[in-house]
Amino acid sequence: MAWGDLSMFQSRKNEIIALASLTLIAFSANAAPEKLTPVLADVAILEHIGVKPLAVQTDTAVGFAKLTNEQRTKLEHAAHDFKKCGGYEALPDDATSAQSFAVTNAFGQLAKQEAKRRAFVPSAHLFRSMAVNPKIMTAIGQVSEANLKSTVEFMSGFEDRFNKGATPNKSVDALKLRIEGTVRGAKNPVTVEFISHKSTPQKSIRARIQGSTRASEIVVLGGHLDSINQDWMGPKLAPGADDNASGSSNLLEALRIVANQEQPERTIEFFWYAGEESGLLGSAEIAKDYKAANKDVVAVLQLDMTLFPGDGQFILGSMTDFTSAWLRSYFENLNDLYIKAKIVNDKCGYGCSDHASWDKQGYPALMPFEASMRTMNGNIHTAKDKIDSNSNFAHSAMFSKVAVALALDLGNSTQREP
Ligand code: BES
Ligand code: ZN
Repeated sequence: MAWGDLSMFQSRKNEIIALASLTLIAFSANAAPEKLTPVLADVAILEHIGVKPLAVQTDTAVGFAKLTNEQRTKLEHAAHDFKKCGGYEALPDDATSAQSFAVTNAFGQLAKQEAKRRAFVPSAHLFRSMAVNPKIMTAIGQVSEANLKSTVEFMSGFEDRFNKGATPNKSVDALKLRIEGTVRGAKNPVTVEFISHKSTPQKSIRARIQGSTRASEIVVLGGHLDSINQDWMGPKLAPGADDNASGSSNLLEALRIVANQEQPERTIEFFWYAGEESGLLGSAEIAKDYKAANKDVVAVLQLDMTLFPGDGQFILGSMTDFTSAWLRSYFENLNDLYIKAKIVNDKCGYGCSDHASWDKQGYPALMPFEASMRTMNGNIHTAKDKIDSNSNFAHSAMFSKVAVALALDLGNSTQREP
């Protein structure tokens, strides 16, 4: 959809919202005061929807606010006006004021990670030991565009993969079988498991390749398996081809290749997360559990949307918020050696995908993206997010190559964020 069409559609939508709220007010004049939802969100987006934050984390420009349902809906849809993710984090009900633990603790984490980003000084000598490894070159050459297309077709063929839908695990069960089929008979044993959640009935999936000499050190590669339709009109299907069958497919292809290399020194874990579209639900629980268990995650790669080359083929965006400055710098070196993409730095604005869940727990995260935010795919979250003439599997293949190179290089290295 062109942006012109979208804004027309947006203003029609606002009329409908206004009408609906008027009707609601008329019918609820004597009702009890509405329950407010405590959230953290980008200050600029809060101001854009006319909400003054109750407190602000100044280094990251993240605000705390308590929203009515109408304001929450506005926040969710502000994304398109802003060309930023409209994401917000819903806080637990006990986040009643700016002084409550949930708010001060979250602000503390944000400040700590931001301080780490600012303290990082890029320098060539940090990565001077990195050199082309012919085995990694051969491995990334095995990425198959046909396999990628086949998995995107498979996942986008479900009516939806919505965590609040009638059958939240229909596609998840099928995806697990597909993963198991892909790694059957591989050189390295791969453990494939469901992960159940408290916050959603949808399950996440984890596939693990055990490390040989430093198994407690974990390299995480992940992306979300769910999809959503936020279109007020139009059909209710949520094929989510770009968002995020594409990243899910990249991960499966990377797993196939990594599972057939020599056993890595570090443990490599692949995740397909549940309920991302409803607020990073699966990854938030997983990252929290890993932190509570004191697990040593040395890096987290997030793949979310890789099929739409908005800035041109082989130009990728790298998100600089909620990611590690060290890991981005490492990634630039890896790219110089193996991928040779053009990297454009950009910002999501607020925790727009599962990497933010890991960042919040203090783990180093990385999110390469299909393009810059300015040229993002306007069809996501609608029935139109299907494979079409804009879908570019050569472009998408680049992200499987990133995953393979990262797993094989960092998985056999002692390098880590200082
Ligand atoms: N894939 C999107 C995030 C995204 C969209 C990144 C456009 C870059 C450009 C993700 O699935 C998503 O929709 N995230 C939500 C936030 C989440 C906390 C509900 C969003 O951006 O609104
Ligand atoms: Zn999405």
